[in-house]
Amino acid sequence: MAVTAPGLRQLLDIDDLDAGSALALLDRAEALREVAAGRAPALATLAGRTVVNLFFENSTRTRISFGLAARRLGAEVVEFHAHTSSTSKGETLLDTWRTIDAMGCDAWVVRHGGDESVAQLAAAVGPEVAIVNAGSGTRAHPTQALLDALTIRQRKGRLHDLKVLVIGDVRHSRVARSNLKLMAMLGMGELRVAAPPALQAPELATDGVALFDRLEPALAGCDVVMALRLQTERMASASIPDGAAFFRDWGLTPARMALAEPDAIVMHPGPMNREVEIASAVADSPAAVIWDQVGNGVAMRMAVLEAITPRRPQA
Ligand code: NCD
Repeated sequence: MAVTAPGLRQLLDIDDLDAGSALALLDRAEALREVAAGRAPALATLAGRTVVNLFFENSTRTRISFGLAARRLGAEVVEFHAHTSSTSKGETLLDTWRTIDAMGCDAWVVRHGGDESVAQLAAAVGPEVAIVNAGSGTRAHPTQALLDALTIRQRKGRLHDLKVLVIGDVRHSRVARSNLKLMAMLGMGELRVAAPPALQAPELATDGVALFDRLEPALAGCDVVMALRLQTERMASASIPDGAAFFRDWGLTPARMALAEPDAIVMHPGPMNREVEIASAVADSPAAVIWDQVGNGVAMRMAVLEAITPRRPQA
């Protein structure tokens, strides 16, 4: 079985890849599509291995897709939920890892609210431990960026000469940060971000990303339009925007989408807040690839788990 990114043991952010290894992961995910979709039998690549879903933040699609990805590679899965664990009794992240590791586990899928928590855990346990970042604070969500690139390639037929727009709460979005890094690395084309000043991430402008403070001019001529959820859980209550007011100025409506290319695709990492960042008429339109993104999550995470998980020595 091909190991697509030789030597890759920890995927903490897009910086752990180069364009070649990122494209190799996309190709491998593409090849795994039938198994990932449950239309072909599970593989035995990770038979006898155990993958831990170590989640300190809520999740639906990321947790479930990593779990399915591990099982469809033949691995066992351990589910850790912070809110029912001894975290509430004061156990640290590192001691939680040591506890589960002592029971014999091989790869770690970690989501945490702290920007640096997953990277700090990876540094503490050492580079030989297989870890994938499933979302850390506002900082990084590398597998989301990879599955989004896979979806763009499938729907647009290329990863170059594209105008890509990311809209909304960029400031608090690990999805936006990892996506813009990967898109720049792959040379995807013209990258744009449109956000109200309070939700903008000015540091992104230095990475060759054009920042807009109005949605309409940013949408002109776009091939790929990505809406983001307002990350209200990361905002002080006084600064949480009113949903209806946000929708009026920043909501992705059919009238606004008409400013993009006629064959533009609409993406959203989920969970969606309908009629806040995106109108149902857009989310449910043929331009939307939101459920493709979810399906691609299983294939992409199979490719990543296959690449990072050490194999059991042959008997
Ligand atoms: C995102 C996340 O958790 O970062 N969801 C996801 O993983 N698909 C985005 C969000 O929560 O808004």
